[in-house]
Amino acid sequence: MDLKGKTVVLALTGGIAAYKIATLASMLVKQKATVLVLMTENATRFIAPLTFEALTGTRCMVDTFDRSFSFEIEHVAVADRADLVLVAPASANVIAKMANGIADDMLTTTVLACRCPKLVAPAMNTGMYENPATQANLARLRGYGVEVIDPACGRLACGAVGPGKMPEPQQLLEHIQRHLTCQKDMAGLHLLVTAGPTREALDPVRFITNHSTGRMGYELARAAMLRGAQVTLVSGPTALEPPPFVELVRVESAQQMHDAVMAAAPAQDVIIKAAAVADYRPAHTAGEKIKKSGADLTLELTRTPDILAELGAARRPGQFLCGFAMETRDLLDNARAKLEKKGADMIVANSLREAGAGFGGATNHVTLVEPTGCTDLPLAGKDEVAHRILDRILARRAGA
Ligand code: CTP
Repeated sequence: MDLKGKTVVLALTGGIAAYKIATLASMLVKQKATVLVLMTENATRFIAPLTFEALTGTRCMVDTFDRSFSFEIEHVAVADRADLVLVAPASANVIAKMANGIADDMLTTTVLACRCPKLVAPAMNTGMYENPATQANLARLRGYGVEVIDPACGRLACGAVGPGKMPEPQQLLEHIQRHLTCQKDMAGLHLLVTAGPTREALDPVRFITNHSTGRMGYELARAAMLRGAQVTLVSGPTALEPPPFVELVRVESAQQMHDAVMAAAPAQDVIIKAAAVADYRPAHTAGEKIKKSGADLTLELTRTPDILAELGAARRPGQFLCGFAMETRDLLDNARAKLEKKGADMIVANSLREAGAGFGGATNHVTLVEPTGCTDLPLAGKDEVAHRILDRILARRAGA
């Protein structure tokens, strides 16, 4: 899911955060985007145009009266080519100009002429950022459909600590990717994914869990977000970085996952239960650490709520329910039995016995088990598998 064929315009104004845009330009090139860079003259005091020319392989457009560059024609051509323009770092001055339609240099003229999505990342001193004039200008820009990327809090170049710091290049890249990758064929849909293992406490230091890493569920959440869905990710403990732009609800035990899912379920159009929920938990959780003795220890376990089955019994019309089945034998028979027993619309079946499938790895091989039959998907990266699962869910919702 790269940015091949997309043209991203990076527009820099004078601010110390300009150096971070070099990293962003490099990331975009690695994603196969065409990157065009516009700089105000002040921006060139912080970072050299040559840096961007070396990184992007395209001529950097600087706001000097470089007539050889045929300024007036060029800015319209750039605006026409752009699939997205990001103004970053955006100074208070350029924000004020943009909010008022002032176009008195190369950068503001080009941005004004752009019809593509426009993103602005303010970066300035906290006082300037919090000034009501700047806030009013940002509100106005939002009203014009410009996406304002909120600055981070931190230590600013002036020594002050507060909001005004430009977000890191990775975050800026994620904003760009959200706009430019994938068709928004899930726009307007509410989708909930569960992911990861659960932990069932024995005492304050020990728990029962399983080998789930959460990777398949996180890829599903990311894929649905990129396709425009409003995503809630209910996650057991994992080491993964959560995908951006999703509502993350962290839980530990099966009971907590149950409560979080049931609370959010009524609003969902699609629920995907990719989590490896513990079926049993210790009947008693000791308040203090269990001390060893000479004798053996027997644990009494009790059932946890079956969240998927409960969702199947309580679902509203039109809600799509997808479960997972991880098996070590009789994969399809077990998955079909779960489909029926839990009242789901689809079970994604994967075998723990197969190389390249199951827990942890970057790839998966799954079979979609539905009331009408089974579809075997090819072995692929979990991101690709996530998209194929979502394709099938959309097709089913459309009546296929
Ligand atoms: N699941 C759930 N709540 C549980 C256990 C499982 O919602 N307490 C969901 C899982 O998230 C998954 C599906 O049910 O989507 C299948 O889980 P699995 O544990 O494989 O199936 P079980 O029905 O528990 O059957 P078994 O453990 O006997 O294989």
